Amino acid sequence: MCGIVGYIGKKEALPLLLKGLRRLEYRGYDSAGVALIENGSIGSYKKQGKVGDLEKVLQGQKVSSSIGIGHTRWATHGEPNDVNAHPHVSNNGNLAIIHNGIIENYGSLKEDLISKGFEFSSDTDTEVLINFIEYIQSSDNLTLEDALRVALSQVVGAYAIAIISKDTPNKLVAARKGSPMVLGLGKGEFFLASDATPIIEYTNEVIYLKDEEILVIEDGNYHIKDSQDIPQTPHIHTLELELEAIEKGGHEHFMHKEIFGQPESIADCMRGRLNKEKGELTLGGIRNYAKALENADRIIILACGTSWHAGLVAEYVFEDLCRIPVEVEYASEFRYRNPVIKEGDIVIAISQSGETADTLAAIELAKSRGAIVLGVVNTVGSSISRVSHEGAYLHAGPEIGVASTKAFTAQLTVLYMIALRAARNKGTIAENRFQQLLRELSLIPSKVEKALLSNDKIEEISEMFKNASNFLYLGRGYNFPVALEGALKLKEISYIHAEGYPAAEMKHGPIALIDENMPVVVIATRDSSYDKIVSNIQEVKARKGVVIAVVSEKDALIPKMADFTIEVPATHESLMPLVSVIPLQLLSYHIAVMRGANVDQPRNLAKSVTVE
Ligand code: M6R
Repeated sequence: MCGIVGYIGKKEALPLLLKGLRRLEYRGYDSAGVALIENGSIGSYKKQGKVGDLEKVLQGQKVSSSIGIGHTRWATHGEPNDVNAHPHVSNNGNLAIIHNGIIENYGSLKEDLISKGFEFSSDTDTEVLINFIEYIQSSDNLTLEDALRVALSQVVGAYAIAIISKDTPNKLVAARKGSPMVLGLGKGEFFLASDATPIIEYTNEVIYLKDEEILVIEDGNYHIKDSQDIPQTPHIHTLELELEAIEKGGHEHFMHKEIFGQPESIADCMRGRLNKEKGELTLGGIRNYAKALENADRIIILACGTSWHAGLVAEYVFEDLCRIPVEVEYASEFRYRNPVIKEGDIVIAISQSGETADTLAAIELAKSRGAIVLGVVNTVGSSISRVSHEGAYLHAGPEIGVASTKAFTAQLTVLYMIALRAARNKGTIAENRFQQLLRELSLIPSKVEKALLSNDKIEEISEMFKNASNFLYLGRGYNFPVALEGALKLKEISYIHAEGYPAAEMKHGPIALIDENMPVVVIATRDSSYDKIVSNIQEVKARKGVVIAVVSEKDALIPKMADFTIEVPATHESLMPLVSVIPLQLLSYHIAVMRGANVDQPRNLAKSVTVE
């Protein structure tokens, strides 16, 4: 969480920083701030709220500088207010810092600094860090980068930081550990950011800083050293990201764009991998460990949130197609257990951002015990993609809306392809079934397109339920994780309480909640559990619950029982989540819009959860 940007070059830094912060606002939007070196001193401007609020503060101010840093915050230490907003300036007014991450031992450092006469105005760990650096620099008369190195050797935690100093107005220093940082290489200018989206407009040459590296940009040059002060030779990546992909393109919200972009993003995800004519599947990213996957005794899937829901669907798919036992774990739980992992176990780590702190830590734990990690990640060059042994990117394009939509369907698509290919190589699937599923998978983009045609009907249904206080989502089999995902979508963007349940579990408790005020969304497409879910609908109706059913097209039975039905095209049941989730995404979107909620930036959330 938190987005950071930096600029040093010949242009005016402020407009560049503000534009960059807007692109990173999805990472946190509790407050925003910038610091620049103006006429030999540090000018720091910050404001609780969004980048737009900061812009109002800056309106009419004459700020001119070609070096600066900026921050958009997701609060960890200290409530979101002006004082806790970044940047933070050190006691002597010499240094300004922005920080994404958490300094865990800030309490003891703070006490020590207070005993030495330092004063603090904020509740943040970041203000402690910058004063600690100031203290080391002034007591040992060190350069900024040396003081930073010494300070970081005593710091416990995660950070991506950038620092400017009024004493060295041509220098920008940065470091990272556990939080992402990208350096953009322009012509005589440099851009720093948490991800490449603020940079792509200016250059496509970037360096992803590695953990514990320290970057110094000074007088038009840069160098990177490790924590032992040993110079590093970085790899310069050429980005293929298009600017258009990170803009709204005429849609009112990114979430809208991303929901409606799914026919294309799913097709992109299969492009070059699924060859319908030849009946082949290739996944270049998983080559060296393909055999290990096929021969694995078990697979452990690690993920959080929506990615965890994709993992639940994958569990059913892998077990059915590959006959390999699968466990799906919340990364946040797994990392603090003492899990049984043996050499050669396969871990599949799923993450849109590739930066989720819990997932990263769980991967490290699994690796340390001999597991092979395959990453299923969207963000190219992200931490999870780099720490995984191998993996397959989603190729879904940047997902900006905090609520994950197109990443979920792309995750399902990639996981399905991995499972299908492994099953074929392993011989656990008959060739004609393989070909049938491959063909069915290739038709998913057009079926999603068709499912999106229910948009108007879903908007009408949303109007009727926008003021509900609770929702229940029910599904069975492959549609059970879809019920969880539908409930998560609704609660995170509309703030309506919603629960997802396996439909048959309803009678073990949640049925007590059902009355005429309880909308129950039942994902009841035609599959092997169809008759059972029909009975579950009857159970809800018998208790006067209001049923909104997602059904397969031409279903003649459920429309007679349910209060509202939304049709989706038929497909193989193992692929149905790719289609049946679409109405649920639309329902949550429309309800949130009608309630006046900030759809793309829901309260208290951030797109990349880089803290535990
Ligand atoms: O980037 P990741 O896929 O690792 O993120 C995991 C969750 O934080 C994420 O899916 C979150 O639950 C979304 N806001 C759900 O829409």
